[in-house]
Order: sequence, then structure tokens, then C-alpha cells
Amino acid sequence: MASPIKSLKAKAFLPMLKARQARFEAAPAALPAGSDQARVIARALHPHRQYLKVAAVTERAADCKSFTLVPDPARGTEALAWFSAGKYLTVFETIAGMPVTRAYSLSSAPRDALNGQYELTIKRVDGGLMSQYILEHWAVGTEVEVSAPSGNFDYQPLRDAGDVICLAGGSGITPFLSMAHAIADGDEDFSMTLLYGSRNAESILFREELDTIAAKTDKVRVVHVLSDPDAAAALPGAEQGFLTAALIQKYAPADAPYSVFLCGPQQMYAFVDKELETLQLPKKYIRHEMFGEFHNPASQDDYPSDVPATVQITVTIQDETTTVTGSSADSVMQILEKNGIAVPSRCRSGECGFCHSHLLSGEVYVPRQLEYRRLADKQFGCIHPCCSFPLTDLVLNVPPAK
Ligand code: FES
Repeated sequence: MASPIKSLKAKAFLPMLKARQARFEAAPAALPAGSDQARVIARALHPHRQYLKVAAVTERAADCKSFTLVPDPARGTEALAWFSAGKYLTVFETIAGMPVTRAYSLSSAPRDALNGQYELTIKRVDGGLMSQYILEHWAVGTEVEVSAPSGNFDYQPLRDAGDVICLAGGSGITPFLSMAHAIADGDEDFSMTLLYGSRNAESILFREELDTIAAKTDKVRVVHVLSDPDAAAALPGAEQGFLTAALIQKYAPADAPYSVFLCGPQQMYAFVDKELETLQLPKKYIRHEMFGEFHNPASQDDYPSDVPATVQITVTIQDETTTVTGSSADSVMQILEKNGIAVPSRCRSGECGFCHSHLLSGEVYVPRQLEYRRLADKQFGCIHPCCSFPLTDLVLNVPPAK
């Protein structure tokens, strides 16, 4: 069929616009039955919220539990959204009247979701409001509200190499456990060498489960890296020390490209990133799971010295304008939440853009490692409240939480 576009001049499009408008006007008000399958599938894969219940609690360590979550049809969730290994769920809670959200990687196999189960594994974080709340309050039968599976830390064959060195620290094992399951189940196709850093054998999470998976498939290899020399000497096959460049090179393929995936505490990123620089890998082959919520901006070398201790934020959300006061050591999102104002959020580390808001006046500090905004965002005054710290009083518009 000949193209209807004869010229790229704007004038040539005008008759097409009229024809398009006429088709809209002649269309039936309701969609013909069966014509919105794409929308039905999109809604099933990307629900705004999922309403779940805790079906089981498993103690993993003194300060770490896994929670098996199942759909709660009584509150409108009939089935779980599917996910690819490496995704996270954002958990929504109200703690002491304050709306709080946190992102946790799914530790279960993707195909478990098709059988109606997710697993989240939560370790207590020092001073961590949400982790403490969940570990103390969630029990069998607790009603839970979460987002759709989100994030970009899944294996992408067009971008990532076929061999992946996965560097895990502490509870950062969770997305890698899900990936290992997915490989063993035939749902992912890459070779994983997991270098899992722990202090000693007792602090390794999912040790037996990892061994079982590694025995099932030669595409998953697990190496424990223990910082305690006695513990390393006592565990067959373990390495002693930390996740260094030399260790990565020891296990990486000598004659093929490889990707490096990292997930662990923030201190681990600071250390490993320096090690990775020495390997000079192409940028696309280094993948970080989200940095996590940022604290103590004043510890950064580029943080200004003359920031007032408290600031005022005037925020408009859903046509309602409120002025609140908070500490400049907190992010804009934390200040608003501490004042009972819910902000849309998923990752809480600048990556997903879900909290994208408009700064009308004032200045904020964004830590370098969390600066994911595009140039245009910065030019037009858009900020991510989850990783923006007020340097002055602020006025901003925030979209309503979904
Ligand atoms: S919540 Fe993801 S960018 Fe702010």
C-alpha cells in the first residue's frame, strides 16, 4: 500500500488529523468485547498495588526472616504478577501514623509466582524503621500491600555477557538466589558464578538452598568468601578475604567477556567499585542493584558547608498545599513522610523515577551515585524527592501517590 505521508511538512498532516478526529468521533463509546486483551495483560503484569497475606514465616538467622506471601482475593488480588529474577517489590506500611515504603528484592523463583507465591527475605538494618517493623509485626495472616515487581536488575541477554560474576554481601544474596533458581528451572540462560561475601559460616544465608541448586546445574557455581580466616579455613572450598579484583579475575572466564552484578550493603559498593575500576570492564558489563536509601549526606565530600539544620518545605499534592519543617539531614521524601504526607515511591534511590516532582523554588543536594536525572529534568527543575536533600527552604509540586 502506498504511504499516506507524501511530505514531512506540517501542513501535509492536517487532513490526516481531521480524518483521525472523525474516526474517534464515530467510534463506539465502549470497547467491543474482547478487544482490550493487551490492557488486561498489562494490568495483570503491572498492577498498581497487590494485596497479599503472609502464609508462612521462616527464620533464616537471628535477625533475618523469609516471608511467604500469597494473594488475598478478599481485597482484590486474585493472582500474583509474574516477574523476572532480580526484581523487587515495594512494601507499603503505615508506622505510627507515618506512610513508609521500602523496596525488597524477591528471593523466590519466578515460577513460584505462577503457583501463587512470592518470598521476601528481610534482614534487620541498624536503625531501619521498616525492617524492624516487619520483623516484629508480620506473622502468618498479616495483610500486606506491595507494588508490582519492579527494577532493572534482571539479566538482559542483549546487554549482559553469557558469563556473569555475581558479587553478594549479606542479605544482598536475595536477587541472586532468585536468579539461581531461574537458571536451574530453565527460565534464564546464563552461567552464574556467585562470590558470596559473609563474615563466617553462621552468617551465610540460604547456604543449603544454594548448594542444592549448584548440585542441580553446572550453570550455577557458588563460592563463599569469608572475612574470618578461621571460618574460611574450616569451610571446604571457601575463599578467605573480601570481594577483590584479584578474586573476580580468579573466577572469571579468561578468554570470554563477562558481566559483574553487585548487590549488598552500601559499604560493599564503595569497596568493590574501586576494585572494579582496576579491571577496566566495559561500563555495560557492570550492573548494580539499587543503592538503597541514602543517609548522612554531610559525609559526602561535595556537600556544602553552610546548610541550615532545619528547613521548611511547602508542598502541593492533590491540590492541597501544606508547609512542613524537617531536618536537612533527611531527604525531601523522608521529611514529607515524617509529617504524614505520602509521596509516590518505589526504589527510594533515584533510579525508578516514580517520585519525579517539580521543584518551584529552593535548592537540593543529590549524592553523585544517585543522580539518575536526565539533563532536561535538571533544566526544568524536576527532582526525585527520595534522594534529594534540602539545602534551603523549598517549594514543590508532588504527584499524588497511586
Ligand atoms: S522512588 Fe524511585 S526515583 Fe524516587
